[in-house]
Amino acid sequence: MTQALAVGGIWDIQKQMRGFQDTIVYYLVALYGLPDAVAERPRTVEDLASDLELDHEYLLDLFTYLMSVGLFSQDEDGTITNTAASEIFRKDDPSHMWYLAQFFAESVLPAWQNASNILKTGSNPSRDTFSPATERSDRLTMLFNGGMTAIGLGRDELAAILNAFDFGQFSSVIDIGGGKGDFVQRLYDRGYPNQQVAIFDQPKTETNMITSPGIRRFLGDFLKTIPEGFDLYFWKRVFHDFADEQVVQLLKLNRDIAPNARVMICEMILKRDGIPSIEKMWTLLMRNVTAGKERTLENWEMIIEMAGYQLVEVVPTASPMNLIFLEAHL
Ligand SMILES: C[S@@+](CC[C@H](N)C(=O)[O-])C[C@H]1O[C@@H](n2cnc3c(N)ncnc32)[C@H](O)[C@@H]1O
Repeated sequence: MTQALAVGGIWDIQKQMRGFQDTIVYYLVALYGLPDAVAERPRTVEDLASDLELDHEYLLDLFTYLMSVGLFSQDEDGTITNTAASEIFRKDDPSHMWYLAQFFAESVLPAWQNASNILKTGSNPSRDTFSPATERSDRLTMLFNGGMTAIGLGRDELAAILNAFDFGQFSSVIDIGGGKGDFVQRLYDRGYPNQQVAIFDQPKTETNMITSPGIRRFLGDFLKTIPEGFDLYFWKRVFHDFADEQVVQLLKLNRDIAPNARVMICEMILKRDGIPSIEKMWTLLMRNVTAGKERTLENWEMIIEMAGYQLVEVVPTASPMNLIFLEAHL
């Protein structure tokens, strides 16, 4: 207790306890497109309230708060304009916070309401049957895919992954559960000679997927089958959505379909070392929204062994992601 207070201080802890409020405030900013409206035409709060059909007094208090933390500024005549911080919530901003802010509020925050049940019982009914991606509405699919792009690009994660390992050694690479295709696009852009690049994801993702010449696209359900014939099967941030036994099944399927191929798992690795790091909260998030979790290296070693693979090497990257490189036991 003494140590926690020394680190955060009681007021910092109290502020963190109110963190859900920031989730909702950023949600309102994105949902009602406040930065886009202001960029289109700077306006007073009163005009914004009238144009967007919002309550003037609430909006005034919202802007009062937002401006106090650096989002938006106000000219002397009362006109609201964007700041660098509010710009990142514009729909077309490359950081994609427009998507992430809405996905967190509409999908992740409600799922955390189950946390006390999950802690008590170790499971809950929705978790046992949860098929997060395939059962989402079109709106949540769109927000999720945009959000994943934000996470991938935000810390330059994709560059960190591509710089950490020689992906040029493979004649063909398929990104299973590759979402919109941000990774394969970056890989393709590296221009490794004669390398074929492909993406596989569920049919709902099709409208959000890149259509880039040179990148093959496959649609399907990886719980049933995946395309054969590739040299490297790349799985990034997919297995943390699934329970251990499902991950073993997915790896066994990969092995049955492509016994001679190599497999790369790209995930965070949970360290129980008492040092603040992003995966320590992320594992709680995954436990609340999916049947999965973040895994320790020991967890991975067990899963890999059970699936009939051998661990070749674990390569850290200059991002929270690690590359876990496998070959099948022959
Ligand atoms: C957490 S996201 C990871 C996306 C991407 N690999 C990344 O790192 O940004 C999981 C991906 O798996 C896909 N997915 C989930 N269930 C699937 C299934 N049964 N068949 C095919 N794709 C699926 C989702 O559509 C989503 O794109």
